[in-house]
Amino acid sequence: MITAIILAAGKGNRMKSEQPKQFMELLGKPIVYYSLKAFQESNIDNIILVTGEEYITYCEEEIVKCYHFDKVMRVVAGGTERYWSVRSGLDSIVSTDYVLIHDSARACITTELINKCIDEVSAGACTLGVPVKDTIKVVDSDGIGIETPNRELLWQIQTPQCFSYKELLDAYEKMQKNRVGVITDDTMILEQYLGKKSRVIRGSYNNIKITTPEDLIVAENFLKNYEKSC
Ligand code: CTP
Ligand code: MG
Repeated sequence: MITAIILAAGKGNRMKSEQPKQFMELLGKPIVYYSLKAFQESNIDNIILVTGEEYITYCEEEIVKCYHFDKVMRVVAGGTERYWSVRSGLDSIVSTDYVLIHDSARACITTELINKCIDEVSAGACTLGVPVKDTIKVVDSDGIGIETPNRELLWQIQTPQCFSYKELLDAYEKMQKNRVGVITDDTMILEQYLGKKSRVIRGSYNNIKITTPEDLIVAENFLKNYEKSC
């Protein structure tokens, strides 16, 4: 049994929009619709949607029911940080073998990539990612570039990120007992609290995380092209 946790409980501060970015419309549909559709059409068994407490009814009525996303088992309230939203999704699962964690802000995810993740997860934790195209520098607080890591080894990490349910829950338990540093994704939690590595599977440059206003134009174009190829 494989369960997806789709995260839609952020505030979208960097988007500077009135409503959280996952509910803004792209081609007439809310951003969160696109991830749900890709998962609904994938080989996933069921889906947990995590959103803000005040958006639960809206998600249940206007999105899940309206678009017939019948793989969505539950819509649950998230937390103040991304990892608390993941935790809340994990806690709402009664039983599953594997979990795929996905950011709803990655509206351009495809069913094909989700199925690739599903095929790979039984071999161990994994995540989608793409090799970086730019030179990356470490810049200090004075704005001075102090280091240039070897680009050949650098990948941008995306979602879905895929884990054994028990293993991820174990890592979260350990993190809650002794949290250190900034946490931006779940593979970090596995590294830091269980000392376990994740494989990085090649994703797609289309699978952007819609974060700032200019990303909307890019994502809309990708989605338009998907429609054309259907
Ligand atoms: N997310 C979440 N719960 C949070 C924070 C984030 O479910 N407390 C989700 C977002 O809805 C998003 C994904 O995690 O789909 C990735 O987070 P990010 O792109 O950083 O979204 P926001 O946190 O909403 O944006 P910002 O950081 O600009 O405020
Ligand atoms: Mg954020």
